[in-house]
Amino acid sequence: MTDLPQIARELMTHGKGILAADESTKSADARLTSYGIIPSEEKRREFRDLFLSTPNVEEYLTGVIMYEETLDQKASSGKLFPAHLESKGIIPGIKVDMGTEPMPGSPKELITGGLLGLEERLAAFKAKYHTGFTKWRAVVRIDGTKLPTTSSILENAKRLAQYAYVVQEAGMVPIVEPEVLYEGTHSILRSKEVLQQTLTLVIETMKDKNVDLSAVIVKTSMALSGKETGRIDSPEEVAEHTLDALMAAVPSEVPGIVFLSGGQGNDQATDNLAAISKRAKEINTPWPLTFSYSRALQDEALTEWKGESSNVDSARAVFISRLQKVVAALS
Ligand code: 13P
Repeated sequence: MTDLPQIARELMTHGKGILAADESTKSADARLTSYGIIPSEEKRREFRDLFLSTPNVEEYLTGVIMYEETLDQKASSGKLFPAHLESKGIIPGIKVDMGTEPMPGSPKELITGGLLGLEERLAAFKAKYHTGFTKWRAVVRIDGTKLPTTSSILENAKRLAQYAYVVQEAGMVPIVEPEVLYEGTHSILRSKEVLQQTLTLVIETMKDKNVDLSAVIVKTSMALSGKETGRIDSPEEVAEHTLDALMAAVPSEVPGIVFLSGGQGNDQATDNLAAISKRAKEINTPWPLTFSYSRALQDEALTEWKGESSNVDSARAVFISRLQKVVAALS
């Protein structure tokens, strides 16, 4: 039997975090295009290799979340990416949701799909690629007091709980990610309220469905004023409201909470993490906290890389420098 709480503890090793390198093919292409890089299957492989073959990256990362296409691509070491990560002592993870679609009856809200055939896919990922953990992302949009609707949160919570149950049965640790979007014109207090409501419903639904909470990692947004307000909250405000929501919603048996960057600037995501870590120690939170960023870890390196092999070394240096800053934010 796989010791799931042990995998969760390894993922939460102090002073390290998880890289989200699991953009879908469509999102990866859009990302590359936004840096002036012409996308192709080979460019997406080079994009993954830029990060996953960075020398000494294992000093900063416990796990990497991948997208299905990456599992069958090779790192520059000649190994498939999952085996390459394993050889560095990094746990390979896989995003298993199949993306979002508009919710019937409330089409501005999104519901995540991917439960159909999930058991079979999980068994294949584990057997073939030794994946130790998975991710499922749900999206919660704030619009004044109109959105989110309770029914959209509940529908996403039910699916997250069903996903988490099936993943544990398959012998892997589920990352449960209900992302409360940064986009919007809401206040930080409204963001906190929605974060708390969402996480409370997700945890309650997981309990109802007999998910083992000691083998679940919660991936969450920070409480932030909506991006369209133009207001950059102080890291202390972000830390206070984020931790208030987490303390109210997430029970102590959860072995760890990781943050997404959600479209924050690189320094903003780093500074907010530092303030959250500091306050978490002061109030003695029951769970360890770390990062599971995509954009805030990759942005600067992509700007430097520009898709050119001659820029790989300098782009990797930029990536390591950001990892060092983010890891320093945890101490
Ligand atoms: P960002 O850090 O870019 O928000 O991505 C993290 C993630 O995994 C979103 O699902």
